[in-house]
Amino acid sequence: MGLQADTAVGVIGAGAMGQGIAQVAAQAGHPVLLFDAAEGQAEAAREKLAGVFARLVEKGKRTQAEAEAALARITAVTALEDLAPVGLAIEAVVERLDVKQEVFGRLEALTGPETILASNTSSLSITAIARPLARPERLVGMHFFNPAPLLPLVEVISGLATDPAVAETVFETAAAWGKSPVHAASTPGFIVNRVARPFYGEALRIVEEQAADPATVDACIKGAGGFRMGPFELMDLIGNDVNYSVSSAVFEAFNYDPRYRPSILQKEMADGGLLGRKSGRGWYDYSDGAEPPVPADAETADIAPPEAAILLGDPGPWAGLIERLAKAGLSIERQEDDCLFPLLDFGPVLLCPSDGAHAEAIAQAEGKPVVLIDLALDWALAERIAIARSSDVPAEDFARVAALLQAAGFAVCPVEDIPGLIVARTAAMLMNEAADALYKGVADPDGIDTAMMKGVNYPIGPLAWADRLGAARVLEILDNLADCYREERYRPCPLWRRLPDGMRFREG
Ligand code: NAI
Repeated sequence: MGLQADTAVGVIGAGAMGQGIAQVAAQAGHPVLLFDAAEGQAEAAREKLAGVFARLVEKGKRTQAEAEAALARITAVTALEDLAPVGLAIEAVVERLDVKQEVFGRLEALTGPETILASNTSSLSITAIARPLARPERLVGMHFFNPAPLLPLVEVISGLATDPAVAETVFETAAAWGKSPVHAASTPGFIVNRVARPFYGEALRIVEEQAADPATVDACIKGAGGFRMGPFELMDLIGNDVNYSVSSAVFEAFNYDPRYRPSILQKEMADGGLLGRKSGRGWYDYSDGAEPPVPADAETADIAPPEAAILLGDPGPWAGLIERLAKAGLSIERQEDDCLFPLLDFGPVLLCPSDGAHAEAIAQAEGKPVVLIDLALDWALAERIAIARSSDVPAEDFARVAALLQAAGFAVCPVEDIPGLIVARTAAMLMNEAADALYKGVADPDGIDTAMMKGVNYPIGPLAWADRLGAARVLEILDNLADCYREERYRPCPLWRRLPDGMRFREG
């Protein structure tokens, strides 16, 4: 059971996060005591909240009476000792282990034995924060996302000493506050900041390898992957300095596992002050009158698309693509084949879904020139798709395939022949990270997927996406990426190899 609404909640640290958390708790009906070490900061945060509540009334999201009542429940206090009566103390002070340990040490001494101590840390170990406490079992992570009143995810983090009943109470309380809580173990990056690393990392690799520019990567991740924002837009919003430092912190916390190695290119951007929106320029130019970025576009003027093809193998997750091509006028003859990835044979060239290998390697194996097509989350909805070719595909045949895809309603982005193109490699690496979090017991499948959808707005959880694609295909993409790069970064999680045939993470 969650805490009763009349239980007082203490918030320590009245900065960006503390202010938002105080708002959430007060809106849920709790008396809130807000404290900050900097003189006047708690009162200033309360005044800002008065403005926030006034705007919510203007927008019709709260009644005047609700807003007044919520604000009246928040008291700015001037001494930590004033938090003695709280049943839940949520700490949102600076991200320093020594400071947090000191705050909790004092809180433990002045609050009752039942008081739950919660930290909003985004990167420190809950186990380490709890270490000096006499009762470390009462400390738990309660990780809100910024802005706390808007983003639904709360990661409820258990350290080695955390009492499961305490984690459950915080989970239920967050749910009662209208949030989407998930349980997670205290490990570097918890769920979101760990599983999301490849979203940035792969995009940066693609640009470093000169396979596509940021505008093309962003357009494909949105137009084919279904994400609301592209990785470069998001890095510009977060700030390249901040995003790089989170990546570096996760890398360090994992004892420099090469899988999490941050990007040298992003460091160069951060060092050069190309921070993103806040500096006026990052991957994109935010100055007045700057031209919007333009993704690569296939030129197909006056080129007739192919009229017929043989489909080899079961279309499986590509059925929606085949349907669109048929609607665009392609006559398709089906042939049985046990290939994992279906192939469309146009005669002079093969169209192959990216399986993580180079088009060049597939062309050699198949004995025919190959056009690779990237992955889409939902072929019925995809607006754009990346394609690449082996060196023996004549320009005209490449353009003919592009013309067919355009006729089927896709904007087509030609990119260099890199393993996994754009969406296939990003998605497979997100799925791999999610599988690894599951394998290591960080969270359960529902928790992992919920965290990615509610914390960073992914269109689908990585494990549900893996179910859609099929674990064997995900492993094939990862194995091929690993073969091409021979880097630890691309090593598949052992879980993929021990999944029983046809096992699904999410759907029974
Ligand atoms: P902030 O810098 O806006 O606010 C921190 C506040 O804590 C300041 O007002 C400061 O005066 C106060 N403070 C520092 N030491 C204190 C102490 N010993 N006792 C009481 N107050 C003290 O920082 P922000 O962004 O609100 O972050 C706070 C915590 O939340 C950090 O642990 C951070 O990692 C975590 N977090 C931050 C997110 C973000 O996007 N900003 C997202 C999720 C978690």
